[in-house]
Amino acid sequence: MCGIVGYIGSKEAKDILIEGLKRLEYRGYDSAGIAMVIKDLEIKKSVGKIKNLQEKCCNWESKSSTGIAHTRWATHGAPTENNAHPHTSCDGKIALVHNGIIENYSALRSQLIKKGHQFKSETDTEVLVHLIEDYFTGDLKEAVIKALASVEGTYGIAVVSSECPDKIVAARNGSPLVLGVGKGENFIASDVAAILSYTDKVIYLDDKEVAEITINGITTCDIESNPTKKEISKIDWDLEAIEKGGFDHFMLKEIHDQPQALRNGLAGRIDVKTGTIHLGGLNFGVKELKNIDRIVIAACGTSWHAGLLAEFLFENLVAIPTEVEYASEFRYRNPVVNDKTLLIVISQSGETADTLAALREAKGKGAKTLGIINVVGSTIAREVDGGMYIHAGPEIGVASTKAFSAQVSALLMLALHFGRMRNLSIPKTIEISEALLKIPDQIETILKQSEEIKKIALKYAKFRDFLYLGRNISYPVALEGALKLKEISYIHAEGYPSAEMKHGPIALIDPDFPSVFVVPKDSLYEKVLSNMEEIKARSGKMIAVATEGDKEIAKIADDTIYVPKTHDLLTPLLTVIPLQLFSYHVAVARETDVDKPRNLAKSVTVE
Ligand code: G6P
Repeated sequence: MCGIVGYIGSKEAKDILIEGLKRLEYRGYDSAGIAMVIKDLEIKKSVGKIKNLQEKCCNWESKSSTGIAHTRWATHGAPTENNAHPHTSCDGKIALVHNGIIENYSALRSQLIKKGHQFKSETDTEVLVHLIEDYFTGDLKEAVIKALASVEGTYGIAVVSSECPDKIVAARNGSPLVLGVGKGENFIASDVAAILSYTDKVIYLDDKEVAEITINGITTCDIESNPTKKEISKIDWDLEAIEKGGFDHFMLKEIHDQPQALRNGLAGRIDVKTGTIHLGGLNFGVKELKNIDRIVIAACGTSWHAGLLAEFLFENLVAIPTEVEYASEFRYRNPVVNDKTLLIVISQSGETADTLAALREAKGKGAKTLGIINVVGSTIAREVDGGMYIHAGPEIGVASTKAFSAQVSALLMLALHFGRMRNLSIPKTIEISEALLKIPDQIETILKQSEEIKKIALKYAKFRDFLYLGRNISYPVALEGALKLKEISYIHAEGYPSAEMKHGPIALIDPDFPSVFVVPKDSLYEKVLSNMEEIKARSGKMIAVATEGDKEIAKIADDTIYVPKTHDLLTPLLTVIPLQLFSYHVAVARETDVDKPRNLAKSVTVE
């Protein structure tokens, strides 16, 4: 999704802004632009990759140490130079970049046109810069505050003016914005990755807050101009963590990061001797748990699949009715939620608009809320009553991998913790905890098979359709496997519960429609074998992800990938790994843009 970078200091702003935009590329975008405050404002924009913008900036004679830049992911209006940000006022003296959506832009645009403003783009954003121009009498912050009072919707903005070259004004409502604090220089970014190479000290702007950033400092106020007090936080991700570390793609690096990501998330949380789980930030104890009669999980995309797995974990280990909802559906369904409901939101970014809206909807109805989040200090992390950080480190590849396994591991610890508060026995907790602590080493053994998985991937990369099948706790894994394949290789793939396959999808099976079976040796193993026989009888090709030592499976499947044995409830943490690798190698064989697949965004901050 869209990205914002801003700089004010004494260095060449252009280079810092372009580097910042490059670090935000992973979020998905289709055009980019930059505004430099020189004597007047100078703007450059381009469609497509940042390198196009960089080429345009090469010949830029002027030097400046103040500027703002943006990557746009089209919502209102096609990805063209005119629609790319920064947008400028009629007199060309104010420039603005914006993330989010101005919902009442159409009415505002008509009013502004009546007043004589001339619009150059089809975007919702452009109304903001004209509104600011309308209110501007010399004080940029004041004009921004007045303009925002007429606006409905979400925004993270950065604004510069040639009339006030010594400052940038920023504001947020519903779209993330952090301010980087440096020495004799300050930064603005929609994501810390953009500025982490310059400073690890940040201020998180809150909703309906406005900041004025100069070389010497940052001041903030609320939307009514009352000063606000902000704390400076330290980011503990280092730059190396957001670089590729020798791998061809971020996705492959992140697949290989999984053992360490899980170890980080498990560290200090499990006491195997006593069967106790220590979760510091939950703010949710025995009293609160006794008071709830239902858990609702809301999430999107891969995080929703982690939620589906959690449903099995909570029902098995905690014995509380649990439902999993697409956050985007939950928010508009007038859901039956009250103070006896616990809402768990799962989000890697902590910024997904639909998940945030689901959280606010449930909170408004009195539900207790917990977040399973990766990005520290993100909006969702700050709005939940309590929760767990998954500590997976920055995830750059658009297709989520390490966040998924770290989410499942965190949800398992949460289920064990809740289970212990209810009826889960100490021996069972210890048994599962011991198995969980072995998972990072076991994932390492699967990663060693990457080359063999690549060979299988090359055999299958030519097919246009795939069916992914699994049963019980392997069904969400099948869904996640199918999602990974379609996201990055653009092959049509569907996930189905394997027994349900005979009620429809089996009609599709022929030698050109392969199936991928997630078939660990668990209580439903024999039943899944029968489903595999049904496919074989129709000449369907099959890849199986099975448990080491299972000789039977290799007689039925055309290709088999083995994972180590673990506790039945933990198999998804292992069976998902070959599916990630398979998708990766298929996508590389098809020469797609693995880390930045077409039409997708890493952090979806619009509805
Ligand atoms: C986007 C990403 C997915 C991600 C989903 C939810 O669609 O492309 O990879 O699973 O958003 O994101 P979240 O940050 O809330 O987990």
